[in-house]
Amino acid sequence: MCGIIAYNGSDNAVPYLVDGIKNLEYRGYDSAGCVLLDGSGNLLIRKSEGKVGDVIKNYAIDKYTSPKGIFHTRWATRGEVNTRNAHPISDCTGKIAVAHNGIIENYDEIKNSLSDHKFTTDTDTEIIAHFLEDRMNGGLTMKDAVAELAHEMKGYSSFVAIDRDSDDIVALKNGSPLVVGLASNGTFVASDVPSFIKYTNRVVYLFDGDVVSIGKSGYRIDNLSDSDKKHEVKTVKIKYDESTKGDFPHFMLKEIMEQPAVVGRIEESGIESIERAAELVKASGRVYLIGAGTSFNACMIAANLFRSLGMDATAIEGQNISNYAGVISDKDLFILISQSGETMDVIQALDLIKANKKIGILNVEGSTLSNSVDVVVYIGAGHENAVAATKTFTASVVYAMLIGMYAAGKVEEARNDLGLLKLALYNTLVPSVIGAVDATASLIKDKVNLFYLGRGADYVTALEGALKMKEVSYIHAEGIDSSTFKHGPLALISKDIYSIALVSDADRDAVMHNLSEIKARGGRIIGISNHNSELFDFYLKSQPAGIFDFVPKVVISQLLAYKVSVLKGINPDRPRNLAKAVTVK
Ligand code: G6P
Repeated sequence: MCGIIAYNGSDNAVPYLVDGIKNLEYRGYDSAGCVLLDGSGNLLIRKSEGKVGDVIKNYAIDKYTSPKGIFHTRWATRGEVNTRNAHPISDCTGKIAVAHNGIIENYDEIKNSLSDHKFTTDTDTEIIAHFLEDRMNGGLTMKDAVAELAHEMKGYSSFVAIDRDSDDIVALKNGSPLVVGLASNGTFVASDVPSFIKYTNRVVYLFDGDVVSIGKSGYRIDNLSDSDKKHEVKTVKIKYDESTKGDFPHFMLKEIMEQPAVVGRIEESGIESIERAAELVKASGRVYLIGAGTSFNACMIAANLFRSLGMDATAIEGQNISNYAGVISDKDLFILISQSGETMDVIQALDLIKANKKIGILNVEGSTLSNSVDVVVYIGAGHENAVAATKTFTASVVYAMLIGMYAAGKVEEARNDLGLLKLALYNTLVPSVIGAVDATASLIKDKVNLFYLGRGADYVTALEGALKMKEVSYIHAEGIDSSTFKHGPLALISKDIYSIALVSDADRDAVMHNLSEIKARGGRIIGISNHNSELFDFYLKSQPAGIFDFVPKVVISQLLAYKVSVLKGINPDRPRNLAKAVTVK
């Protein structure tokens, strides 16, 4: 989703912006652009559809010097992908430019009130530039104009604005993420901390309704609805090398391979937040687990475990919460799982559950969701750069399950199985398995369709395996309960069709029965399981891990999707059309 970085300080802004925007590429985008000041103090906008690297190269951005500026990556929402609609977008005179992340829902209404302005793009963003122009022509400062617009705008939108004649860059945080970075030689406002972590680890996390002015030598934050809001300066622990690939060819591979260490960190970490969360579970009525994408799959697996422990638990995709409005009571507890803490489908659920207790299972510190829940459980997976979630899936689902196990008084069993999982992951990511995954990837790379089959917890594992394959290889992959297969999908089986079966010991007999129905019709089976079977044409060995037995199978599926992606010449870190944090509805 859109990425923003702005800098104002005593140095040339250009190297900071160029470096920062490259670190925001992971969010996913389709066009990019920047606004700088030229030698005469006029705004200079350089933008186009395509890659950040091309914008920098084609316009020789590195050669410019500018005392301040903004760089932006756009993930199109309103207005097609083209250079005109790329950000920054300016007002009628080119005096003001704006970079935006979000959707302005009452766009038409505001645009109609600006009928004497000349609009040149198809974006909702453009009304910001014209609104600011209008009010500043009427005598308001940019900050006051931003505040007035914040009151008029509907929907979730954050933006950063620059005015040729003002010293400060002004930003509004409303829904979509923005954070301030304080370096010795200037101030950043950006979509996330890794974009400027090379220059400073001192940050101020923003709240919705914050209007921020960053000047040459300082900053000011005013919250529009709460003038007493405290904005602490925090020192973050993210290391710069977390934002780099190290010796790996892609972030996705690096992040897959980090998983044994991530689980090891969970094993060693303090349990205070898990215990506080478990206390809330014990005191609650029904438990709802809310997430999107891969995090929703983590919710489904955790909800299965909660139910098996006698707790009433339901997993819901955030955007569907209104379907449950009639049955939610104030005693119900909500567990929100979100790597980014910024997914709008999850954030929008908050409106309906204001009165309820909430736990956030999150990876990004200071994210919007972290400010909206009663207990935050940080999963500590480290910065995840590849668009497809891998290590954060594992860490989120493990934390959610630990909360359930602690609430059920099964602490010892939980910790024992956590130890098993760490070992299982170390023993899964070994050369023999990686080699078998390589060979399997070659077999399936040219397929148009794949099935992922599983039962019980491995039904969700199948959904997650298929999701990963779709995301990074563009192969149509469908996760199906192996028992459901005979109720329709079996019609699609022929000699060339491959199914990837995720088989746990618990459901082995039943799944094998279903697989034999596929084999009888000439289908080919790739088995991911702790044990081989004569039904498998190809076998990828996973390792046992107690209640976390499904995790090594997911990890093998991640690796398989990654390998297929690379064989097809796709960049697995940046799949087309997808964004890391989806900050719009
Ligand atoms: C996007 C990403 C997915 C992710 C989902 C939820 O769709 O591409 O990888 O699973 O958002 O993200 P969250 O940050 O809420 O876990």
